[in-house]
Amino acid sequence: MGWSKERLEEVARTRLGGAKLIVVANREPYIHHYKNGEVEWIRPAGGLTTALDPVMRACGGVWVAHGSGDADVQAADASGRVGVPPDDPSYVLRRVWLGKDDEEGYYYGFANSMLWPLCHQVFARPVFDPNHWDKYKKVNETFARAVLEEAADGPALVFVQDYHFALVPRLLKAARPDLVVAQFWHIPWPSAEKFLVCPWAKELLDGMLGNDLIGFHTQGDCNNFLECVDRAVECRIDRERFAVQRGGHDTAVKPFPISVDPALADEYLGDDWAARAAAVRKRHRLGDRALLVGVDRVDYTKGIPERLRGVDRLLHKHPELKGQFHFVQIGAPSRTHIPAYRDLTEEVNGLAEQINWTHGDDGWQPVVFLNEHHGPEDIFALYRTAAGCVVSSLHDGMNLVAKEFVTARGDDRGVLVLSKFTGAARELRDAVLINPFDVEETADGLYTALTMPAPEQERRMRRMRAQVDDHNIFRWAGTLLSEVGKRVPDPLPAPGAEDEEPEPGRSEQAMAERIATANYLTAMHLASAGL
Ligand code: G6P
Repeated sequence: MGWSKERLEEVARTRLGGAKLIVVANREPYIHHYKNGEVEWIRPAGGLTTALDPVMRACGGVWVAHGSGDADVQAADASGRVGVPPDDPSYVLRRVWLGKDDEEGYYYGFANSMLWPLCHQVFARPVFDPNHWDKYKKVNETFARAVLEEAADGPALVFVQDYHFALVPRLLKAARPDLVVAQFWHIPWPSAEKFLVCPWAKELLDGMLGNDLIGFHTQGDCNNFLECVDRAVECRIDRERFAVQRGGHDTAVKPFPISVDPALADEYLGDDWAARAAAVRKRHRLGDRALLVGVDRVDYTKGIPERLRGVDRLLHKHPELKGQFHFVQIGAPSRTHIPAYRDLTEEVNGLAEQINWTHGDDGWQPVVFLNEHHGPEDIFALYRTAAGCVVSSLHDGMNLVAKEFVTARGDDRGVLVLSKFTGAARELRDAVLINPFDVEETADGLYTALTMPAPEQERRMRRMRAQVDDHNIFRWAGTLLSEVGKRVPDPLPAPGAEDEEPEPGRSEQAMAERIATANYLTAMHLASAGL
C-alpha cells in the first residue's frame, strides 16, 4: 500500500498510543515579520521546514522552534504559542526566544560555523570555539526545558531535528526517562577521521545516544555514525540490528530518505501558474527564451559558483546558444551574519556580472541572479516553465529542490541536472547526473538539458515522478514514526478493537502514576542541572 497523508494520520493515531507529538527544530515553519508596519508571515527557505510542515499538518502536535521573526512576539501568546499554518491552523508552534549572544554562539557559531562545515565535505574549515560550545550547551538546555513544559501533561514522543540539538535527547531522557525520543539528522554524517577532530565529539555523541532512534538519509551516513561511536564511546554495537547498546539503553540507527508532499505542487501552481511565470519573465526581461533555473539558499555547499562556471563554459563551447536561454538563479539570503556566506554572495554577484559582460549584450543577459526570498507560488511557476532545473551541490544530505522540481512537472517535461553528491541522486537515477567539481561535465549537463528531445524528457520525468510519488514525505514520517512508535508504551488498540479489555498498563491509574513519576524526575533533574 502506498503512503498518503491519511495513512500517516492513521499511524499517528494508532502507533503513538495517545502520546503527544513534539517536534524540536531550530527553524520555525512560519515566520512573522513587519512589512510597511503590518504583520505578515512567510515560509522560510530550506529543506527541513518544507519536509516537516506537511507531517505536522497531518499529525497535529507542537513544533518547538527559535522565534526569529521581528513580529514573532507580537503574533504569539504570552507563552510563545501560535496556531499554524496562520491561515488555517492545524498544529501549535511554540516559539523559544534567544538573546543575540546565544544566537551568535549557538546558531551562527557552533551549529553553522562548526558542525555544518564539519559534516559537509566541501573543504570549508570548521571553527572550533569554546565560547560557541558554551552557548550551544546553554541553548540546548533552553530548548529541552521548553519541550519538558510542553510534555508536562503526559506521555509524548519527541522528534528532534538536526545538528542544532545534539544534546537535547540526553537532557530529555535524564529528566523524563518515559519520553520516547527520536532524532533525524538532516545533513550528512562524515567519516570517523573527520568527525573525531571535533574537541566535543564525545559529548555530542553521548547527547545523541539519549535517543531511542536516530535517522539519517543514507546507510552510508549511518555507517559513518556507528564507526564514530565505536571509536569514541564505550558501548556495544549490534551491527545486525544497527543499534548501539549502552548502560541498558538501546539506540537504533537507520536510514530514512526524506522527501516532499507531491500534492503541494498543484496547490502552489494553482490555475494561474502560467500568469505568474509570465509576470516573472516580464519583470526580468526573459522573453520566451528557454530557462534553466537554480533554487537554493545562498550556501557554499550548494555549488552555485560551480554551476555559473558551467554556464560560462557552455557559452564558450556552444556560442550558437547565445541569446537562446537564460540561467535564473533564485538565491534566498541565508546566514548572512557569517562572513563565509557574505563572501559567497559577493562571489556569485561577481561571477554573474563577469559572465554577462563576457557573453551578453544590450538585449540579452545570460545570468539572472535574484538574491531575495521567493514564496513557493513563484518558485513552482518557475519550475513549471523551465527547460531544466540545476542542482549542483558539492555535498548534500538529500536536496529537496530536486524532488520539488519533479513534482511540479505534471506535464512530464523538463530536465533535472543533478549533482552525484546529493542523497537525491541515489533515487532520481533519470536525472542528468554531474560532478559539479568538473566544469566540462557541468557544461555538458547544461547542454543536455537544453537539447534533450521531448520523448526522452518524458520517459525520464515520468519515472522520476513515480519515484517521488511513492517515496513521499508521508512514507518518510510514517516509517520513522512506526519504527519509534514500537517504543511508545501501550499503543492504542488497532481500529476496530475498541471493545477489547484494556491492557493493565493502559488503566487510568497506571497512566497517572507514570505521569507523577515523570514529573517528579523532571523537577529533580531541572533542579540538579540548575535549570
Ligand atoms: C538545512 C538544515 C536545516 C536548516 C535549513 C535552512 O536544510 O539541515 O536545519 O533549517 O538548512 O537553514 P537555516 O539555517 O536558515 O535554518
